[in-house]
Amino acid sequence: MSLLGFREYLFGETEGLKLPCPDDELISMWIADMEFATAPTIVEALQKRVAHPIYGYTQTFDPAYKNAFLNWTQREYDWTFDLDHLVTSKGVIPALFALIEYICKADEKILIMTPSYAFFKHAADFNGLELVTSDLVLKDGDYQIDFDDLRQKAEDEKVKLCIFCSPHNPTGRVWRDDELEKFAKICLENEVQIISDEIHCDLLRVGAKFTPLAKLFADSDQIITCMAPSKTFNLAGFSFANIIIPNEVLRARWKERHLPIDNPLSIVAAQAAYETGAEWLGDLKIYLDENFSFLESYLQKHLPKAVFKRPGATYFAWINISAYFSLEENLTLFFANRAGVLLEGGNMFVSNSDGCIRLNLACPRVRLEEGLERIVKSLLENVNG
Ligand SMILES: Cc1ncc(COP(=O)(O)O)c(C=O)c1O
Repeated sequence: MSLLGFREYLFGETEGLKLPCPDDELISMWIADMEFATAPTIVEALQKRVAHPIYGYTQTFDPAYKNAFLNWTQREYDWTFDLDHLVTSKGVIPALFALIEYICKADEKILIMTPSYAFFKHAADFNGLELVTSDLVLKDGDYQIDFDDLRQKAEDEKVKLCIFCSPHNPTGRVWRDDELEKFAKICLENEVQIISDEIHCDLLRVGAKFTPLAKLFADSDQIITCMAPSKTFNLAGFSFANIIIPNEVLRARWKERHLPIDNPLSIVAAQAAYETGAEWLGDLKIYLDENFSFLESYLQKHLPKAVFKRPGATYFAWINISAYFSLEENLTLFFANRAGVLLEGGNMFVSNSDGCIRLNLACPRVRLEEGLERIVKSLLENVNG
């Protein structure tokens, strides 16, 4: 996980922040990428492409990339879509910023569920639109959608768009089909379009099942799906994402502004990932599952008051440690300062997140162990004065 840029992102400053150790001794468990080498088959494909020294404007005229992605969604999720609906983007974040602008008028509002990936809020703020939040509720150990609250908020006629995270960052919840259906029906009945950000969907626990929201609403053109190989295969630096826009008018609007030109290496990496990465991903899932087991036993032993449930997807552990802190504590700052661990505390997830931390477990187990040791030591020192 990259250490670069953490000062500005996590603390809003680049100077003046004094940490207990040099940067290269910090344990980085914050940003959503992995400390694992990508699949060798992707590296081979890239090496082959780099050896062909023409790196000019590149457009995917050849349907090979799009077919590779379609085959992937068919194989993994038994879901296909109209290939004409697929556009590519320099990432999900830039797509969110643009789509909000195309969909919403100046006085309209955007609905999200909290806790939330902060860029959903940033994208609304950037477009000068009011954000409406619906808190997820923790019931029987799982984060659940508060459908009554959601309905009430969707009924506000100024709410025109919901940005939905599935699986959910930061909690890792994989929404069941009945939850997806109920959620989308509420939105669609109230003419609220949905952007379903499914960027984490491939990173499932072994045996878990994921359903793309649009699969359940094949007749609707009001659900935009975002998926990418970036999180799954550790390719985020290639800035490449798939955006499926079924609505013709919106897609035409997108195409006016976004030339279908992509980084030639990004296309090659993404195609190789979808064509050849499944076996590597299978191994990754097993390793991640074991990291979650390790975390579970570690917490039971050392922080019995921490509330944690193994998530159905993502490499994030969302842990409530409010038994050990006051809710006002800035946990991001506390663990950076006292433990030399970079993680994201509740303050990074819009609202409904105080007292929680998000740990990225996509790292070798020895790093995880060291990170946890430092977290527990600093926490107990604080509690015991
Ligand atoms: C839910 C979610 N959406 C989008 C992104 C970023 O997407 P991209 O790098 O494609 O802009 C992240 C990264 O952490 C994420 O968690």
